[in-house]
Amino acid sequence: MRRAIYPGSFDPVTNGHLDIIQRGCKLFDEIIVAVLINPEKTAFFTVQERCEILSEVLQDIDRGDCRVTVESFAGLMVEYAAERNANAIVRGIRAISDYEYELQMALMNRRLQPRLETVFMMPAEEYSYVSSRLVKEVFQLGAPIKDLVPPLVEQRMRESS
Ligand code: PNS
Repeated sequence: MRRAIYPGSFDPVTNGHLDIIQRGCKLFDEIIVAVLINPEKTAFFTVQERCEILSEVLQDIDRGDCRVTVESFAGLMVEYAAERNANAIVRGIRAISDYEYELQMALMNRRLQPRLETVFMMPAEEYSYVSSRLVKEVFQLGAPIKDLVPPLVEQRMRESS
């Protein structure tokens, strides 16, 4: 049983995140999409809203035989991953600029929990510039975000603003 954790803020989930999850479904029997509870970060959506949105949009993607669930977590990610008996952490890398931070995290996580592997996955090129941060920024400045996020996310963002 190969179980992976896909941790992140997902504020909001983008089409890039969904692309990574679909790719991960080809490698793992189960993926737990884990939303970090981070009281320090100012967020657009609450953790509960992010989990609800994720659960809904995940119904619409091709998951193959992979079981994909959504949870929130607080504290050290490796401890949470150990509690869930996960074998791997999935992280998406869009560009070299992501790599440095991701490598640091992966090596720190390996030091904390040597049995847990980090798997880096590349999204489709069309999502290589898409980030939750930029989506929020352009949305708040009135630009369209169609094709960057699932329609439900755009709808919920409009309702919340
Ligand atoms: O989507 P993000 O915000 O880039 O995700 C970052 C995340 C949630 C993967 C990272 O901040 C994390 O794992 N936080 C939990 C606390 C932790 O374990 N910190 C040590 C990381 S080496």
